[in-house]
Amino acid sequence: MFEVKDSKDINLAENPVIAQMGIYDHEQLLFCNDNATGLKAIIAVHNTVLGPALGGTRMWMYNNEMEALNDVLRLSRGMTYKNSISGLNLGGGKAVIIGDSRSMKSEALMRRFGKFVNSLAGKYITAEDVGISTNDMNWVSMETNHVVGLPGKSGDPSPVTAYGVYMGMKAAAKAQFGSDSLAGKKVAVQGVGHVGEYLVKHLAAEGADVSITDIHEDTLKRIASTYGVKVVGLNEIYDIDMDIYAPCALGATVNDDTLSRLKCSIIAGAANNQLANEKIHGQSVVDKGIIYAPDFALNAGGVINCYSEVKGLSAEWAMGKAEEIYTTIGNIVARSQSEGIPTYQIANKMAEERIQSIGKVKLPL
Ligand SMILES: NC(=O)c1ccc[n+]([C@@H]2O[C@H](COP(=O)([O-])OP(=O)(O)OC[C@H]3O[C@@H](n4cnc5c(N)ncnc54)[C@H](O)[C@@H]3O)[C@@H](O)[C@H]2O)c1
Repeated sequence: MFEVKDSKDINLAENPVIAQMGIYDHEQLLFCNDNATGLKAIIAVHNTVLGPALGGTRMWMYNNEMEALNDVLRLSRGMTYKNSISGLNLGGGKAVIIGDSRSMKSEALMRRFGKFVNSLAGKYITAEDVGISTNDMNWVSMETNHVVGLPGKSGDPSPVTAYGVYMGMKAAAKAQFGSDSLAGKKVAVQGVGHVGEYLVKHLAAEGADVSITDIHEDTLKRIASTYGVKVVGLNEIYDIDMDIYAPCALGATVNDDTLSRLKCSIIAGAANNQLANEKIHGQSVVDKGIIYAPDFALNAGGVINCYSEVKGLSAEWAMGKAEEIYTTIGNIVARSQSEGIPTYQIANKMAEERIQSIGKVKLPL
């Protein structure tokens, strides 16, 4: 389902747009242009079987339109999987605005974009992503109700994301060590920003032996003294003695180089797209006896928080739903071990199975 071939195999230049939509079975693309405001955007609705397509808007200076198209197709499909495996009644979508977020944003541009979102009549719900602030979303909300993550609503998703990562990490520990206690476990947290700090807080409270790294020295000092954790160098983090590696900064940090150095037996962190190459490194972690908690299942707390805003549910509900990530990761790992298939593939299968099964419920009577 959804996947005909690996995205790396797709020659974008040889595939016209509708053919590319067919590769991942995308439902709809909306190309947005407005000369007056300078808006150039693409909204991708990948799949709405489970519900309206929810996913953030990214503003990025893409080198060319093909790069933007590829990104929005890939990201919207990723949201379908994340929303499905998290048990949410949401489909997958994403939007990209082409341009420099530091110099090209304006109230008019964001409101014009909001009008395009509104033209989809609720089939796509937007939120913040890279290059977009809550202030920008306020402008979008002047033209459409189909937006979440506004100030004063569900708020910062990071505590919910961190709690889900923490619970999923415990489930992986249960599978790997026979107990879900993280007390005394050596955990290396890469990146102590919004999510990383909340994660460190949970880990320190449980008595884990935490090491942290970040590019910001002042943040490191503050967090080390607040939670009593150790600081290690940016590159050193891959070589230290550890049980669990928790990437909470960048994608693609699980690669040929780091896998030859990492001594962990679990990889569980908040960062998106942790495996540099899913097929190669998803299998490499299995070969090394490492349990990899698939990123999109583990870091779903953020979208769970958005969903609570869409449905008018409480913050307590969001935390309770994020706690279910413990069960989700436990199920993924158990199935991966019994079927002998890498965890990332099992997570994809589980997301697809839910869409197929709920799709039957939605057939007309
Ligand atoms: N915020 C959420 O709710 C949420 C939800 C899902 C996924 N994520 C993902 O989790 C990750 C962290 O999100 P966040 O909101 O905490 O972001 P953030 O920007 O607040 O924090 C990232 C931290 O990583 C640090 N960093 C950057 N490069 C680094 C490097 N080379 N080595 C070590 N540290 C480095 C930054 O200085 C920063 O402190 C991101 O990949 C994000 O896409 C976040």
